[in-house]
Amino acid sequence: MPYYTQMGTIPPKRHTQFARPDGALYTEEVIGAEGFSGISSIAYHIHPPTLVDKVLEPEPYSVEYVDRDFLKHRHFLGEELRPGGGWLSGRRYIMGNADVDLALCVPTEPMGENEFYKNAKCDELVFVHDGEGRLETPLGTVEFRQGDYVHIPRTLTHRWVFEGDVQPRLLVIEAPTEFRPPKRYRNDVGQLLEHSPYHERDFRPPTELNTIDQEGEFIVRIKKHGKLHPFVYRYHPFDVVGWDGYMYPYAISIHDFEPITGRIHQPPPTHQMFEARNFVVCSFVPRMFDYHPDSIPAPYNHSNIDSDEVLYYAEGDFMSRKGVSRGSFTLHPGGIPHGPHPGTTEASIGKKETHELAVMIDTFRPLNLTTEALAIEDKDYMYSWQPEKHGHPMPDAAPVPAHAGDGAVSTASPADAAR
Ligand SMILES: [Fe+2]
Repeated sequence: MPYYTQMGTIPPKRHTQFARPDGALYTEEVIGAEGFSGISSIAYHIHPPTLVDKVLEPEPYSVEYVDRDFLKHRHFLGEELRPGGGWLSGRRYIMGNADVDLALCVPTEPMGENEFYKNAKCDELVFVHDGEGRLETPLGTVEFRQGDYVHIPRTLTHRWVFEGDVQPRLLVIEAPTEFRPPKRYRNDVGQLLEHSPYHERDFRPPTELNTIDQEGEFIVRIKKHGKLHPFVYRYHPFDVVGWDGYMYPYAISIHDFEPITGRIHQPPPTHQMFEARNFVVCSFVPRMFDYHPDSIPAPYNHSNIDSDEVLYYAEGDFMSRKGVSRGSFTLHPGGIPHGPHPGTTEASIGKKETHELAVMIDTFRPLNLTTEALAIEDKDYMYSWQPEKHGHPMPDAAPVPAHAGDGAVSTASPADAAR
């Protein structure tokens, strides 16, 4: 997280005596990553966080990749994934590598009152495509709504509670390294600079610390080594009376990302929101198109040798485009060019704005696919640049419309053009 935060009651100096009302000591826990070199927080528990009554048999929870080393553009119809399961059993892993795993989750079952989850390997960044509710943690509650990214640092016990009538739909991004704002947007002490597309005020740390002092059976499923390890704790894990530090959950809305625009087409890094080891997360949000009189709002063809590009289509008018619908993924691997579909370059000329919403994940190592992905694949996507598939003439015969300045306003999306 970009800044220091504290909640509840903490002693004036770390690692000193801090007495409960009954005279016994609160139990201090340093929660951190990367040994003692990464970010951390210090929490004060009523009861020792080490008090385990039972460790149950681990449950298998590994991701199996069945399609590797391919060199084809791929397209997956996320809406075809069936809803079901809970926050963990409902995750459908689609693709990933050693740096990141991507899953869709459309859960229909709530987490039990005394059930919790902790990812002991990965940070989780969850894009809330649909739904609202709250993330409950020992460090407080984070309320979330549609369009939020919810970040849960690894090692943090938590539970998801969905509210309202809307079926939740979530894109889960798991990484064994920390998600951070891009370095170029921060100064030497980590503060976000003026040219950053978002600000510290846009981050929403926990708003409420609900300390629960309760004895019973509390099951925390700890994800590690491709398994869920159920630990039965004697005391409720949310027994923290205060904490401070840099490691805590937060939410930030995709709608708080202020787009960077220009006279000519801006490259994908201008949309970057987070970085982690060997991949980035970008947000494509509603914005004005390029304003050079001869600009082409649609992206140009490009060849990325060193990265695979994944786009998750959240909202916009790309539904009119053959094959790409809400909740779809496209995957354009490094090594072969990709770009606008036939006719979309010319059609974008003169357009003033877009209402698209999309999340992009670019990885610097190749991605692999699961059986879940293959089951929802649009297998013809590789050939979707053939002009006859779009009812267009060959590209060199396509008419070029009048350039910008004709006052046209469109809701067309460059997502139509399949970046
Ligand atoms: Fe691209």
